[in-house]
Amino acid sequence: MRVGFRLNGSAVGLEVEPDALLLDVLRARGLTGTKEGCGVGVCGVCSVLVDDRPVSSCLYLCAALEGAEVWTIEGLAERAPGLVAAFVEHEAMQCGICTPGQVVAAAALARACPSASEEEVREYLSGNLCRCTGYGTIVEAVRHYLATL
Ligand code: FES
Repeated sequence: MRVGFRLNGSAVGLEVEPDALLLDVLRARGLTGTKEGCGVGVCGVCSVLVDDRPVSSCLYLCAALEGAEVWTIEGLAERAPGLVAAFVEHEAMQCGICTPGQVVAAAALARACPSASEEEVREYLSGNLCRCTGYGTIVEAVRHYLATL
């Protein structure tokens, strides 16, 4: 089937199988910043934005993307460079596997609630698991970025 949507700001038209998953399609197109974590929609590692809301791309069917706007970590690095820079400045990563998903969730938060408190940041990012950092530096990075908006 054919599906048309916007990907990181550019119109794309793809021929996909009806059961094609967004994660697999993105990575096959070279957008390997989106990682696979648990594979069952729980850990948040594979998060991307669909119409400004974070979704688990490991479960998201490409067939549902007609007319949608998708942003991956690659696009957000250009759309919100300050957010990525905040993660770097605050050393908000260790192994880094969760980082693209954390940035994606933070970008959604910045749109939905730019004045979010620390508690609200922690709540909003609670669907993005991190095994390494203890979350402190991630929350600091996000709050720093929000303060610049
Ligand atoms: Fe390793 Fe988050 S930096 S899981």
